[in-house]
Amino acid sequence: MQFSLKSLGMISLFVMAVSGSKFANTCENIESFGTTLSADCRESEQGNMIQSSIDLNRCIKNNKGSLKCGKNGNYQGSCINCTLRGNTEMECMCRNVAEGHRFVRTQIDLNKCISNNHGQLGC
Ligand SMILES: *[C@@H]1O[C@H](CO)[C@@H](O)[C@H](O)[C@H]1NC(C)=O
Repeated sequence: MQFSLKSLGMISLFVMAVSGSKFANTCENIESFGTTLSADCRESEQGNMIQSSIDLNRCIKNNKGSLKCGKNGNYQGSCINCTLRGNTEMECMCRNVAEGHRFVRTQIDLNKCISNNHGQLGC
């Protein structure tokens, strides 16, 4: 009984990992090119790895010089020089409308904003 309950718990944990955010837990070969993020993402617990990509403009916004999660945020309109560090940390120079539109350095953990939905990257 204890064993089966434990298995059930592990299965629900995995379902959360595959369907929630934190895509990096279930995707590999994470790369960025311009505003496109691409990765090979597992479609289910025992499933295949599927190649997937997403335009980060659909998922990230610039809020007064600070990168945030935001549907159709179009951060590229006011950010430049973005780089991906490690697997999930994106750093850019983004304009701060509250301070004379100056560029400021800002980072975001893409794991907070990007999900793996059955092998497809999503916001
Ligand atoms: C963006 O990168 C270019 C090339 O490295 C550099 O000359 C420029 O100063 C950078 N812009 C900002 C706002 O950091």
